[in-house]
Amino acid sequence: MGYRIALLPGDGIGPEVTEATLTVLQATGIEFEWVRHTEIGSIAVEKHGVALPATVLDSIRETKIALKAPITTPIGKGFRSVNVQLRQKLELFANVRPCQSLPGLETPFKDVDIVIFRENTEGLYSGMETYDEKNDIADSIARVSRVGSERIIKYAFEYARRHDRPHVTVVHKANILKLTSGMFLEVAQNMAHSYPEIKFDDRIIDNMCMQLVTRPQDYRNIVTTNLFGDILSDLCAGLVGGLGVVAGANVGEHYAVFEAVHGSAPDIAGKNIANPTALIRSAELMLRHLGETDAADAIRNALLDIYADGTFLTADLGGTAGTKEFAKHMADRVAAMVA
Ligand code: NAI
Ligand code: MG
Repeated sequence: MGYRIALLPGDGIGPEVTEATLTVLQATGIEFEWVRHTEIGSIAVEKHGVALPATVLDSIRETKIALKAPITTPIGKGFRSVNVQLRQKLELFANVRPCQSLPGLETPFKDVDIVIFRENTEGLYSGMETYDEKNDIADSIARVSRVGSERIIKYAFEYARRHDRPHVTVVHKANILKLTSGMFLEVAQNMAHSYPEIKFDDRIIDNMCMQLVTRPQDYRNIVTTNLFGDILSDLCAGLVGGLGVVAGANVGEHYAVFEAVHGSAPDIAGKNIANPTALIRSAELMLRHLGETDAADAIRNALLDIYADGTFLTADLGGTAGTKEFAKHMADRVAAMVA
């Protein structure tokens, strides 16, 4: 039987990196029963008129865990992001994104080790947008609640404590957005008193961007609101090798959905060149969540070996390995480790 897990292969490069990840997971010897959902996003809109069918949500509520590949969202028109909807409807309030330097990769900095904690259900992504046709004015509401701020900030501090990473930085724009960002900052400042062993500081978002591209080694855990967290995640991915290598977990009180930071990459879809590392590492986070530490360690160690070796990389990192070939190569290494 094994673990029953919802599987959302997504679109664009989604199906390719999903198959690659399943190849690697299979090599761990752990049994999974995948509950596949392919009708989501634009395919679901065409067939059923809704982007996020209730069956998908019900399925994740039943399995409690999902492994998810990216899903395309139309730009400037069309249906609301199913990624954002999933996070809101399942109350996956913590988006955890570890950005760590990999051995062997040529990047401007060597020892980047940052985990981003992005508030995942409110802020500017609350979905409250209106358009006043008469005056041709569009509004977006950025909602910040005390409860919503407390749960993500507490999650970041607890993570910092549990993983012995005693430095938390809250990122905000409280000088301008005095009520929304101001509340988020205030909650963080108050909570910091409960964690006296953890160094706490705050940065205004624009300064944070400059700091991260000049002195990223000075930061360990960054907690911030939805939009800033979205942007800083891609920025930090850029520090450690790009979107092809950074994993993520969407975690709530009842459910968890594991997915890469990157999107559906339509520019490279269907060519067997996407880097599956980010989704494979998201699966590694899923294994840790399940308590399958040995299998998770095997995946991590196999990846570190492949990167340190540097001869079997995908095109985004200057290599020639295809998505499938990378996965097969990695699966062989994982199988040898768990044997
Ligand atoms: P993107 O992350 O898909 O791509 C940005 C750039 O990074 C592209 O040049 C792409 O080729 C490259 N890239 C991304 N992942 C890669 C990988 N695994 N290997 C090699 N190169 C990779 O972001 P973009 O282009 O802004 O968005 C495309 C679509 O994805 C949009 O519809 C967007 O809404 C959606 N999206 C979905 C997400 C999700 O499902 N969680 C997250 C982010 C975006
Ligand atoms: Mg993003």
